[in-house]
Amino acid sequence: MTATTVIALLALFHGISASPLKASQRTHGFCKELNIPVFATADTAVYDHPKIESNIQARAWAIYADTWSTPQGAKTLVHNTTTSDTFNIHAQLCVPNVAGIKKSILQIATHGAHYDGRYWDPELDRENQSYVEASLKAGYSILTYDRLGAGQSDHPDAYNVVQAPLELEILRQLTLMARNGTLYNIAGKAQPANAAFAGLAAPKKIVHVGHSFGSFLTSALIAKYPALTDGVIITGYFYGKYLGAPGMASWGVDFAATASPPFNRPGGYVVCQKSGIQNLFFGGNPDTAFTPEMLEYGDSLKQPVPIGELASAFHIIGLQGPDLKAPVQFFLAEFDFYICDGDCKGAYDPQVLKNTYPKAVVEDYIQPNTGHAFPLHNNATAGYQVMFDFLDRNGV
Ligand SMILES: *[C@@H]1O[C@H](CO)[C@@H](O)[C@H](O)[C@H]1NC(C)=O
Ligand SMILES: *[C@@H]1O[C@H](CO)[C@@H](O)[C@H](O)[C@H]1NC(C)=O
Ligand SMILES: *[C@@H]1O[C@H](CO)[C@@H](O)[C@H](O)[C@H]1NC(C)=O
Ligand SMILES: *[C@@H]1O[C@H](CO)[C@@H](O)[C@H](O)[C@H]1NC(C)=O
Repeated sequence: MTATTVIALLALFHGISASPLKASQRTHGFCKELNIPVFATADTAVYDHPKIESNIQARAWAIYADTWSTPQGAKTLVHNTTTSDTFNIHAQLCVPNVAGIKKSILQIATHGAHYDGRYWDPELDRENQSYVEASLKAGYSILTYDRLGAGQSDHPDAYNVVQAPLELEILRQLTLMARNGTLYNIAGKAQPANAAFAGLAAPKKIVHVGHSFGSFLTSALIAKYPALTDGVIITGYFYGKYLGAPGMASWGVDFAATASPPFNRPGGYVVCQKSGIQNLFFGGNPDTAFTPEMLEYGDSLKQPVPIGELASAFHIIGLQGPDLKAPVQFFLAEFDFYICDGDCKGAYDPQVLKNTYPKAVVEDYIQPNTGHAFPLHNNATAGYQVMFDFLDRNGV
């Protein structure tokens, strides 16, 4: 057997041994799930935080973390480490039906904490809510993935491994793989075979889209590696005085392994109760902004969060991007509780956002009558159009 055959067989075996990979025809394109081996090396650290192995410890951790006298950020770092490994990253690549200039633009969308890649592609009412569907309709190719620790990607140690700088490196590697053709090559070979992915030329441009923690990562990527992006949409995040104001106690967490329903996760992974999902992700007028079905669906999609990524987030937030030239849109939900303490109007100075990326076109937009997880609210599609119009006006 040649080395290539062995790798192909291993990839096939891996796909079968995990849950079966799905491929689906969409109204405006075709999607395929992938398991992508991503090699990443990053600075990590051991942090001083409580262990979480019960629901009581989970809630006590949230209160401890919110307490004014609890050390925060760098003060909690005990010693520095390095993590270097190959991780399985579960992803979905979708390409539009229609050939066109936008097909050669790949969006890479990074979800926030408490969700996985399905955040961008809700099944409840794809036509009116899925960002993936809307992107295909607008002619874009799009990669969504489960961040390390979420969904069907690997779930390593929640304290010492799943940390923000490592997740940033995974996003950088995925971007490099997309740019140099490796990603489309993997998609072309992955089963089930489909003509839509055969012989795809590597994307000409990459647009990065983030939500919440995924926007922390996206903003860090574009600040540190400005040449890797051609356009940026930052949703559900800006670095401001209200960031995280409601505190982690508002999440109403259980230990993931003893939650109902339970998740197969080791110590240090926490998951929201349904009330926490509403507190964090839903907002606006409850009669018009979202339906009870959307809240129910949002709860059914939830994922555990590894606390190490929160302890290490200080490394990647609030970075300046003096060299970024790609256009950036901040797309904010009017009644975002966690980012704006409930009201984004007047919660920030647009000039401060512009100053973060002095060489780039920077715009901000507030989507009306919507909470933090705006794809799970009514009128999401009109919001997506605002993003696509921005990209279009700026040549991506
Ligand atoms: C960890 O590394 C950072 C950056 O290199 C350094 O500033 C810090 O002092 C180190 N912390 C410890 C506890 O060694
Ligand atoms: C989706 O939106 C269209 C028009 O925007 C509407 O006609 C349709 O009823 C919506 N679908 C659902 C399931 O709400
Ligand atoms: C493409 O980029 C990935 C990620 O950095 C790297 O592992 C791979 O060797 C590169 N492949 C080529 C053909 O340059
Ligand atoms: C729906 O969203 C669009 C785009 O943001 C906005 O112009 C419109 O006013 C919104 N409609 C409602 C009813 O909130």
